[in-house]
Amino acid sequence: MLSLAAPTEPAWTARALGSLDEVLLDHAHCEKKAAGMALRLLFSYPHRDFLQQPLAKLAREELAHFEQVLAALRARGLRLRPQRPAPYAGRLRERVRRGEPGRLVDLLLCCALIEARSCERFGLLAAALAEPALVRLYAGLLEAEARHHRVYVDLAAAAVPRAQVRERLAELAAHEAFVLAEAPALARLHA
Ligand SMILES: [Fe+2]
Repeated sequence: MLSLAAPTEPAWTARALGSLDEVLLDHAHCEKKAAGMALRLLFSYPHRDFLQQPLAKLAREELAHFEQVLAALRARGLRLRPQRPAPYAGRLRERVRRGEPGRLVDLLLCCALIEARSCERFGLLAAALAEPALVRLYAGLLEAEARHHRVYVDLAAAAVPRAQVRERLAELAAHEAFVLAEAPALARLHA
């Protein structure tokens, strides 16, 4: 169960397939940012012991994925370069509460929703792509994203009661769907 409030529009898949190089480049940046976000949580919450091991493992996995996507870029004759990011993650975090433990719970649930959306879209790409190497890449990564989604939800439930997590996740998922509905039509994983 991915907790998403709305499925991806078919237009996204068509746009992604039409600008696959841009999407792969964005994907590389997203894996690096996912590792960075897990590390930032470790630095921000050194007193929250329950976060440390799961987020350290998750950050390592995200960096391994970053290397996989770098290899996929190289296989297409591409190199990593700067790219204008989608406004998605920043807009998603506009709803993060300021006080604790609400801030921690919201940051974890925003990460959970980003993983869920990546998982859904990796599935769409794996089903639509023709190149066997890319199909294998996305089919493999979507399983990891589903697991990362669950890790983040479970960490939130270690901070506050599960019923509060469910309620807040539904609110943030509705916001996530709204952010995507409003997003500019860029060739990005989260646009
Ligand atoms: Fe992930």
